[in-house]
Amino acid sequence: MRIAIAGGTGLLGGRLAHEAEGRGHEVRLLSRATGIDLTRPDGAVSAAAQIEGCDAVIDVLSIGTQNDAASIAFFESTTRALLAAERRAGVGHHIALSIVGVDRAPTAYYAGKVAQERAVHEGPVPWTILRATQFHEFAAQMFTVAARGRIHLAPRMRTQPIAADEVASHLVDLAEMPACGRVPDLAGPHEENLVDMIRRYARATGHRGWIPAVSLPGSFGRAMRDGRLLPSAGATIGRQSFAEWIVSLE
Ligand SMILES: NC(=O)c1ccc[n+]([C@@H]2O[C@H](COP(=O)([O-])OP(=O)(O)OC[C@H]3O[C@@H](n4cnc5c(N)ncnc54)[C@H](OP(=O)(O)O)[C@@H]3O)[C@@H](O)[C@H]2O)c1
Repeated sequence: MRIAIAGGTGLLGGRLAHEAEGRGHEVRLLSRATGIDLTRPDGAVSAAAQIEGCDAVIDVLSIGTQNDAASIAFFESTTRALLAAERRAGVGHHIALSIVGVDRAPTAYYAGKVAQERAVHEGPVPWTILRATQFHEFAAQMFTVAARGRIHLAPRMRTQPIAADEVASHLVDLAEMPACGRVPDLAGPHEENLVDMIRRYARATGHRGWIPAVSLPGSFGRAMRDGRLLPSAGATIGRQSFAEWIVSLE
């Protein structure tokens, strides 16, 4: 098969490309680093040329923002550009990765993911949407993002994290199948607390500083703590635990 990966140079996209190539698929990458900016007016046209002859497009694009309007604008415009490109190039399957609980917890980033899901539902291309929980690698992302000078803050959150490699493998499985709409959530094998995950990640990577736990304010902070971001019953459960992932870093 030929599979295009939008966001194929990112954290998950790199793993996806590796997994798909390992299974013998031809992979095409779409990102600004490969010359395609999907937020630009000509994004759909340049993407269409890149995905010509592909069987499926997997969207793992992302933006770092804490602004609702910026998040919605990014996910709506990039999704619409991809769908227009797929239509133009005759690609028959659009696969989007979303996040467990996006519609249960109000935050700027999730507002964009909800808009992305809606655009896919309403779009012209047969689709599959997978919602996954936080990746094990989320501990590393939060360790970096929530740094204030030399202090690294650890937000309180209940999560059931999954290895990014397993999300990548599941997405390639989905690309090998016909479009199937919304599929069961994907989560890791155990519930964890994010404070503990961040502290274990910091220790495993040689950081010895103070990492205070913090409760994020507002309704999203409450959603993080009250379990609304945990997977629903019937979720597909991955194999690698957070503890096993941490050992693999050492
Ligand atoms: N992290 C988690 O715990 C988690 C959990 C569940 C689901 N997800 C979802 O997983 C997906 C991937 O997340 P990630 O952490 O792997 O993201 P990431 O590392 O930030 O990668 C984002 C990708 O998007 C590309 N990109 C950004 N702006 C672009 C633009 N204007 N045009 C074209 N490409 C653009 C980037 O490449 P360039 O910079 O080269 O453009 C990069 O390849 C996201 O949809 C996220 O919502 C994440």
